[in-house]
Amino acid sequence: MKQYKVGVIGGTGMVGQRFITLLEQHPWFQLTAVAASARSAGKTYEEAVGSRWAMETPLPREAKDLVVLDAQAGAEKMAEQVDFCFCAVDMNKEEIRALEERYARLECPIVSNNSANRWTADVPMVVPEINADHIQIIEAQRRRLGTRRGFIAVKSNCSLQSYVPALHPLLKYGLDRALVCTYQAISGAGKTFERWPEMVDNCIPYIGGEEEKSEQEPLKLWGSIRDGEIVKAAGPAITAQCFRVACLDGHMAAVFMKFREGGKPTIEQIKADWAAFRGPAQELNLPSTPRQFLHYFEEPDRPQTRLDRSLEKGMAISLGRLREDSQYDYKFVGLSHNTLRGAAGGAVLLAELLCARGYIEAN
Ligand SMILES: NC(=O)c1ccc[n+]([C@@H]2O[C@H](COP(=O)([O-])OP(=O)(O)OC[C@H]3O[C@@H](n4cnc5c(N)ncnc54)[C@H](OP(=O)(O)O)[C@@H]3O)[C@@H](O)[C@H]2O)c1
Repeated sequence: MKQYKVGVIGGTGMVGQRFITLLEQHPWFQLTAVAASARSAGKTYEEAVGSRWAMETPLPREAKDLVVLDAQAGAEKMAEQVDFCFCAVDMNKEEIRALEERYARLECPIVSNNSANRWTADVPMVVPEINADHIQIIEAQRRRLGTRRGFIAVKSNCSLQSYVPALHPLLKYGLDRALVCTYQAISGAGKTFERWPEMVDNCIPYIGGEEEKSEQEPLKLWGSIRDGEIVKAAGPAITAQCFRVACLDGHMAAVFMKFREGGKPTIEQIKADWAAFRGPAQELNLPSTPRQFLHYFEEPDRPQTRLDRSLEKGMAISLGRLREDSQYDYKFVGLSHNTLRGAAGGAVLLAELLCARGYIEAN
């Protein structure tokens, strides 16, 4: 397989650090440039990150001495040095939209963690196991941007990775609606307990904008391409409550689901569908693909955040407690690693898909 030169925009942040660790031993991708805010620009990566390094593994050698570029003032320089960039920055949405489009117009493909472009009609929002075919929209996006190589592709919000993969193989039974409560780790806010002491022994029943994302983004994933746009699916309807809980990593979801009249599968059918589910990521055998995407635990007290979030390098989804419900048809629990499957790992998998399908080429 070809080797690709990769940049990370926002490389000093929580998700950015995950990208740097995932690129350390990646078989196709080699980290060649890092960009962040003007505060970090000109420093080595090690100096710029300083005590903010929050990963369990040491800072990778190839990143340490890279001189951080200014993501905005140094955009041309950054784009020249790479075949594509990952992007995870903490800026306002308009600024992020402008920044990502600027890189795309500089012919630098952007694989983004940010939410700013998730609802841009010709930007694919992809979970490779679910809607890999949406990347075809890139041709329409390139026509709009007037680019040959450049485009933007995004991954979806971290919250929904713990339940949408489980609901997806059940759509064929006529899933009518789902009610979801998420219990989300503090790294999802770019924080550790040292930097967010108020979260120790606490639960905050509010995460700005998260409930709308958790309800609406699945409909874009399940949408279809029509006239150069991705049109969202009409259902199933999802209602969500999202809580911040005192866990470092790992988003859990308690899910209730109701099927249309006559569609309700058996518990055995659901477990068999989960066990058998494979998407294009598995068919293409991409390097970051989990062997088994959906793992079902029979133990009544699993999945647990600390025990199960890192399953298959944090790229698998853990499920458990599937049982009948008195108001809905069934209820179950899902868990995913928010900065791996839910953020940097999901974006790396998406980039692998884009490379394998020829949308990103090595210069
Ligand atoms: N954490 C998660 O689990 C998660 C999951 C999915 C999506 N996301 C999304 O990913 C993005 C980053 O999240 P995070 O948790 O990694 O945030 P973070 O830890 O606060 O890091 C933010 C990054 O953005 C950079 N930055 C800030 N202002 C900038 C500017 N004006 N120009 C260029 N770069 C700038 C920072 O650089 P400096 O170090 O120089 O300040 C840093 O590298 C957000 O859009 C977030 O919504 C996060």
